[in-house]
Amino acid sequence: MSRQVLITDLTIDTGVQELLGKAEQENIETAFQRAKEQEPHCKFGLTGVCCRRCLQGPCKVTFNGNKGIKRGVCGATADQIVARNLLSLIVEGTTPHVEHAREILHTLLETAEGKAPYEIKGKDKLISIGKKLGLTVDGVELDKLAHEVALIALQDFQQQSGVSHWLRLRAQDKSIETWEKLNILPSNAHLEIANAINKTAMGCESDPVSLLLGIMKMGLVEGYDGLHLSTDLQDILFGTPRLVKTQYRMGVIKEDYVNIAVHGHIPMVSEKVLEWSRKLNDEAKALGAKGINIVGICCSANELLMRQGVSVATNYASQELAIITGALEAMVVDAQCIMPGLAQVAECYHTELISTLPNIKIEGASHVDWTPEEADKMGEEIVRRALAHYPERDQAKVQIPEGTVEAYAGFSVEQIVELLAALNGADPLLPLIEAIAKGDILGVVAIVGCTNPKVKQDLANTEVAKELMRNNVLIVATGCSAHSLGKNGLLSPAGLEYCGEKLANVLTAIGQANGLPALPPALHMGSCVDNSRIDDLLVALANRLGVGVRELPVAGSSPENHSPKALSIGTFFIAQGVDVHIGVNAPITGSPLVEQALTANKGEFPVTTDELFGGKLIYEADPIQAAQTMIARIIQKRKALGLVC
Ligand code: SF4
Ligand code: FE2
Repeated sequence: MSRQVLITDLTIDTGVQELLGKAEQENIETAFQRAKEQEPHCKFGLTGVCCRRCLQGPCKVTFNGNKGIKRGVCGATADQIVARNLLSLIVEGTTPHVEHAREILHTLLETAEGKAPYEIKGKDKLISIGKKLGLTVDGVELDKLAHEVALIALQDFQQQSGVSHWLRLRAQDKSIETWEKLNILPSNAHLEIANAINKTAMGCESDPVSLLLGIMKMGLVEGYDGLHLSTDLQDILFGTPRLVKTQYRMGVIKEDYVNIAVHGHIPMVSEKVLEWSRKLNDEAKALGAKGINIVGICCSANELLMRQGVSVATNYASQELAIITGALEAMVVDAQCIMPGLAQVAECYHTELISTLPNIKIEGASHVDWTPEEADKMGEEIVRRALAHYPERDQAKVQIPEGTVEAYAGFSVEQIVELLAALNGADPLLPLIEAIAKGDILGVVAIVGCTNPKVKQDLANTEVAKELMRNNVLIVATGCSAHSLGKNGLLSPAGLEYCGEKLANVLTAIGQANGLPALPPALHMGSCVDNSRIDDLLVALANRLGVGVRELPVAGSSPENHSPKALSIGTFFIAQGVDVHIGVNAPITGSPLVEQALTANKGEFPVTTDELFGGKLIYEADPIQAAQTMIARIIQKRKALGLVC
């Protein structure tokens, strides 16, 4: 296979292809190459039947139910091992989001106490959450109200009994009834994580059904004290996103600017870097540059894009390639999805890789500590380091793929409602509900999650989206999947060419009522924690219709999942009664029981998440087939609601 064929097989992003060629010429290794080196993957690992829970092992049992050893040394079966491993994986997906929520919570608390250099920009969100929590809001100073809200949130990390406050705040009553009956309502995020780790420890829980219920409970911890809590408190601190226009692809890195990439997830870090880049912009001009250019990668990109319109260089799988442009003075990272391989790539250039969170250090990176109190010091120090590196740039090594793509973002629920209000001010959700009822919008699918160097970058994310759009399904998007859509023109009104006529007409009508040519066919709703916004939209629609979320003609899809976070977010939506598609197999197929329980495929196991919650897992690698499976389910749910099909 020629080099060119190989590179074009790895990604559909032509800018990334160009940089992979540069990496090869300069003999620099990337994740795409390392992914190939790992093939073929171990079948025991792929199917979830490899157990390393104690020192009698590691044990590997049969992955196809027939050949091979049936039990580990302790007697654990494939069902037990797979269920335990899956719970462990879901804990690893949930914990980073719960830690994210705890960081923002402490930042809000210290801001309210006047100890941290942030301000409360989201007054409306604070008041609305304060009211929902039953606090007095009239005449109360914002700092005082924020402090009270933060203290209630803190109970979700401290209380030893009762139900999570953020679950009560955000969940639909009908869903709470279901979860209460199954005894899976979480109390305290840290306590639930500790309980789950205890369940999976050697010699503890081995009942796969109870382990599966533990998985669903962890999904609720993820949903409420991970996703919702993070988004709500971030909106209080930084403001609720509104419609913004931006640019995508590697071409957003500008040769004549000091370039800083922000990468990771925590906006308290990236917002401060952006703030200080604006304050010190003239110092870049003194160095002969045109200014300081901040670009985003992964969800740090999403956070700054949604609220500040900052442009996006690339998504997860190609993060190393941003450095290979040779034009980044610094890459600032915080938490989640940071490849350790970045340090090795940065060594080949003048780029300084800088870690920031006190508990997350990266081998080979320098470190500037972020704490809420020292946030300004961190922001200034990082930008000054980037400025100092600008004269060190080797122009001979600079190669920035040309071209950018226009995209719209900032579709918070509040922004969507405001756009719909242009059609019906008294009942803004009604135009959307009528469009769904008539079949002009067949259903809504969230395309979320990652890219994964095991599969061709951006291909499945965009193909699933296009097939759904063709069938008049409205797309909402978050995370690195949203970046795939953005890079390929699906976050712009130009993307309407991929839509069925009915959907295109609806999006054009809403857009034109708001002075735009049309809305894009995929609405970018934010970062991975902002999957909470998608949940809020579903709850609002279900409440307005007087039905449960599980009855809505909707689905979720993560076509290029790589992170356990995609699995924990997916679990949250399955618990809501929403079908969730993943395109890269989760390690469950070694257990007929776990696979049947989650996918509701035919088998002997009688209890499925579909029956208990109304949602199931769809594993399908083929994007068109995946879209068609979701469409079939949407039609099934439409029929049950008595809607036109
Ligand atoms: Fe083997 Fe059981 Fe130990 Fe797992 S817990 S490694 S199956 S002995
Ligand atoms: Fe993310």
